Amino acid sequence: MRVATMRSPRLLLRNVNGRGIPARRRLANLSAQRPSHVTVLGEQYPTDHMTNISPTIVSKLPLKLHTQPSHPLSTLRALIESHFPTYAHLSSLSPLVTPYQNFDLLSFPADHPGRSVTDSYYINKDLMLRTHTSAHEVDVFGRGETKWLLTADVYRRDEIDGSHYPVFHQTEGARIVSANATGMKELEEDNERLVAHLERSNIEIEDVPHLSPANPCQPAHDPKHTELIAKNLKLSLNSLMLHLFGGRVGATAGNPLKVRWIEASFPWTTPSFEVEVFFRGKWLEILGCGVVRQATLDNANVPDKLGWAFGLGLERIAMVLYSIPDIRLFWSRDPRFLSQFQQGEITTFKPYSKYPACFKDVSFWLPQGETLHENDFCDLVRDVAGDVVEDVKLASLCSGMSKLALTCE
Ligand code: PHE
Repeated sequence: MRVATMRSPRLLLRNVNGRGIPARRRLANLSAQRPSHVTVLGEQYPTDHMTNISPTIVSKLPLKLHTQPSHPLSTLRALIESHFPTYAHLSSLSPLVTPYQNFDLLSFPADHPGRSVTDSYYINKDLMLRTHTSAHEVDVFGRGETKWLLTADVYRRDEIDGSHYPVFHQTEGARIVSANATGMKELEEDNERLVAHLERSNIEIEDVPHLSPANPCQPAHDPKHTELIAKNLKLSLNSLMLHLFGGRVGATAGNPLKVRWIEASFPWTTPSFEVEVFFRGKWLEILGCGVVRQATLDNANVPDKLGWAFGLGLERIAMVLYSIPDIRLFWSRDPRFLSQFQQGEITTFKPYSKYPACFKDVSFWLPQGETLHENDFCDLVRDVAGDVVEDVKLASLCSGMSKLALTCE
């Protein structure tokens, strides 16, 4: 059983930074320099001891890549939405939430590592950047939505490398039905439809039981109802996986889409699961999901409902579908990235140099009587600029004056 509650605890503070200043002193310095207010999305907020949002992160908040036409994350959002046409599609909720919304309403324990300032971004002690789209579950259920998708940018403090970035995107999906005979009939009919669809499809599912001692039914729920809702969750997501990956792995008889279910644990769902898909030779962790806890439904003022929720990470899926090798590319404003994509179309990313093209014309005089071979100059350029220089061309040589054109990659 996997316990996948956001993130595992990490070293809270390293002892020394690169320049050998003890971490405690660095922090003291930081708080001494703290401005009294921060401006976030055009509003001013007072700071306090929890404030740790940085200017780089603030600059990401208005971008909403998942709504920018033609951006791969926007196409992926629309592809997921097209699979759930009868659901409400939400994509413009503010990233500012209270720790109460992000954690407490979802039954996160008081000492959960995700709450710490080393793991999450705080404007101040009362306001933070959502760390997951589940932060809106209670509000959206509370508004009366019964079937909905919500796509948004989420923020977690992390190292930056090719597959980690402190901002990424998630789509949350949820469905609730009445916890009575009418609701159960609705689920049974939907399950029949989905079973028939999946039976006709080229998919191989490695399942786990809907309920197990380690992944139990909730005390307030009838186990038969939980079996039905868990089955509806699994069928709905298996069919979503088919929609996202199915045709793309070559749906021949010998090569079905492989989907694997794993027991998991989240503070606001039980039973809980994770889904992995076998794609281009690797098992890919796609999403977390589960049957929503009664406490969460009570918090949302819908105590007579029963439901499921899932949350999937868009970057990871877009990276494999588009063959995008580095998560940082999603933030690129380079036309060589952006112009490659069209809304609604998944195409293979064509790599290019990570540096923008830059041309330099260099002219110089040689001392009288001295000669310089073109190759000597090329070596000089390589020694100074290394491999970023793509090409060095002698443009003209006239009575002692050399003119060279450099193309730097
Ligand atoms: N919010 C969880 C995450 O970020 C995923 C999840 C969503 C799990 C909904 C269960 C239900 O990992």
